[in-house]
Amino acid sequence: MKEFARGARAEGRVIGLVPTMGALHEGHTALVARARKECSRVIASVFVNPKQFGPKEDYKKYPRDLEKDAKTLEEAGVDVLFAPEAADIYPDGFRTYVNVEGISERLEGRSRPGHFRGVATVVLKLFEIVQPHFAYFGRKDAQQVRIISEMVRDLNLDSEIVVCPVVREADGLALSSRNAYLSAGERNAATVLHQALVTVRDELSRGVRDAMQLQTALRRILGAEPLAQVDYAEIVSADTFEPVVRVARPSYAVLAVFIGKTRLIDNLLIEPVSAGSEDLLFQL
Ligand code: PAJ
Repeated sequence: MKEFARGARAEGRVIGLVPTMGALHEGHTALVARARKECSRVIASVFVNPKQFGPKEDYKKYPRDLEKDAKTLEEAGVDVLFAPEAADIYPDGFRTYVNVEGISERLEGRSRPGHFRGVATVVLKLFEIVQPHFAYFGRKDAQQVRIISEMVRDLNLDSEIVVCPVVREADGLALSSRNAYLSAGERNAATVLHQALVTVRDELSRGVRDAMQLQTALRRILGAEPLAQVDYAEIVSADTFEPVVRVARPSYAVLAVFIGKTRLIDNLLIEPVSAGSEDLLFQL
C-alpha cells in the first residue's frame, strides 16, 4: 500500500482516502463519490479496528463481507482497496497510541472508554501508510471527525479532512452498518432519533435558543418510544462538544440511543448564518 501510494504521489496524483470498517452502504459510497470528484487516485480502506471496540462491544459480530464490499467499492470508482489484517496493523507488542485529550472523554468517549483512542490511532496509521492529500469522513460521526481534525492540526499532518453530509433513508434514519442488527419492529422505532432532531430544529426555528428547553424537547420525543433507551441527548458546542447554555455559536444536537440492544447515534448541526447572527442554518 505504501509503495503504491508513494508512487502515485511521485507521479503527481492527488490522493484521496476513505477509511471505513466495511459493511458498506450509501453513506460510505457518498464519501467515495466525493473523493472521486476531487482526487485522481481514490483509496478506500476496510478494516474492522479492534482497538476502537470495548470488551463488551460488537467487534466479533460486526458485519463483515469483504467480497461484497470490494464489489461495491469497485462500482463506486475506487482505485485501490486497502484491507489489512489486524496482525499487520497491530503487530505483537504494539504499545503506541494517539489520545486527543478532552473531546475524546465526552459523549461517545464517556460511553465507550478508549473508543476514540482506538479511532485516532488507526486513522493516524492509515494516514502514515497512504499519506493522502484528502481524507473523507461523514458528519454522521460528528465527534469522531472533530477529534480527527484536531489530531491533524496538533500533529501537523499533511492530510486535509473533508466532512461529508449524513446520508439517510427515506424516513430519516441515518444509514449505519449497525442498522443491520435491527428487527423489523426496532427498525420502525429507530426513526425516533431523526424525529427528535426534527423537533429540535422546529423549536429552534420558532426562536427557542435555551439549551435546557431544547434538550427537554429531545427527551420528550425519545421518551415516547418504548423501544428506545437514551444514552445521551444533549446540545453541545461544535468545537469542544461541551454542553452549551444557549445556542449562539455552531452547535450540535447529539444523540446516542439504544433501540433494543443496538446503539445508534445521530446529530443535527446548528450554525448561525453568519458570525454573531441570530438566524440559524440546520443540517440533518
Ligand atoms: P465506519 O463506521 O465504517 O464509517 C466510515 C465513514 O463513513 C465514517 O467517516 C462515517 O462517518 C461515514 N458514514 C457512516 N455512515 C454514514 C452516513 N449515514 N452518512 C454519511 N457518512 C457516513 O467510522 C468508522 O468506520 C471508523 O471509526 C473509522 C474512521 C474507519 C476508523 O476505524
